[in-house]
Amino acid sequence: MMREMVRIEEVVRETPSTVTLRFRYAPAALPGQFIMVWLPGVDEVPMSLSYVDPRGPKGITVKVMGDTSRKLNEAKVGDLVGIRGPYGNHFDITPARILIVGGGSGAAVLAPAAEAAVAKGSQISVALGATTRSELLFRERFGKFAAKVEVSTDDGSEGSKGYVTELVNRYLEREKFDALWTCGPEVMMVKALRSAEAHGVPYFGSLERMMKCGINLCDACAFGPYHVCTEGPVFPGTVLRGVGDFGGFKREASGRRVPA
Ligand SMILES: Cc1cc2nc3c(=O)[nH]c(=O)nc-3n(C[C@H](O)[C@H](O)[C@H](O)COP(=O)(O)OP(=O)(O)OC[C@H]3O[C@@H](n4cnc5c(N)ncnc54)[C@H](O)[C@@H]3O)c2cc1C
Ligand code: FES
Repeated sequence: MMREMVRIEEVVRETPSTVTLRFRYAPAALPGQFIMVWLPGVDEVPMSLSYVDPRGPKGITVKVMGDTSRKLNEAKVGDLVGIRGPYGNHFDITPARILIVGGGSGAAVLAPAAEAAVAKGSQISVALGATTRSELLFRERFGKFAAKVEVSTDDGSEGSKGYVTELVNRYLEREKFDALWTCGPEVMMVKALRSAEAHGVPYFGSLERMMKCGINLCDACAFGPYHVCTEGPVFPGTVLRGVGDFGGFKREASGRRVPA
């Protein structure tokens, strides 16, 4: 549980609401894993690693939601943050043809996993959704290695107008996939699960839940009989479909269950 203080080496503005912070952090990480990021005087939050390659600096990609993510969004080169981890499980990068379904900041965890899969010989197709054109996260990054990148925006400012799940259905009707990976708003993840099941495609979704310890001590991340910090954050659809809270309920800091 040792925390290491690291200095931010690079800040990349990805979208109006999202920033990537790069830093040197030696412990090896697998794509899909998360770290606990402590901002002195503010709070500690779980963040997926958006860069895991041991040859370069690691990175997180943060979207403004509340106080901690806003302060992280305002971080500057040279600022210090505390890191512990990596924690949790990871994506299995062996399937040959993978459909990536990213909504909003969900692309943060999917991009490094897709890169690792391509490096092992997989073919990647991407369905990327956002509220509006300027919020499409990692579109250029996916474009460098994916066979296809299709985008949708809620307001129609880029790509198809509407939800990314419509792109998913079109992909699944046209092509064969060996896996579907998704992260984003849970209602989107639920719809993607239904589509994957209808087409017999194995599904893996990265979940977000309240976390405090990150190491299975505090119960903050309870999700049905599972703990997201150690048994997740990546869950197969076969598990998610059996947990009533999926797409339904989350826990607040107090432990109270509230609608997701
Ligand atoms: C395993 C894991 C990986 C994560 N990876 C990332 C990541 O790569 N990038 C990233 O930006 N965030 C990620 N998160 C979410 C992050 O940990 C924080 O929850 C988020 O930054 C908000 O924290 P906050 O303190 O700023 O806001 P809070 O004060 O906690 O929340 C502010 C408001 O936003 C709502 N809110 C908080 N989180 C979410 C959410 N995820 N979806 C919808 N509404 C929410 C709250 O209900 C509240 O109304 C991850 C979470 C987990 C569990
Ligand atoms: S965050 Fe404490 S048990 Fe998962």
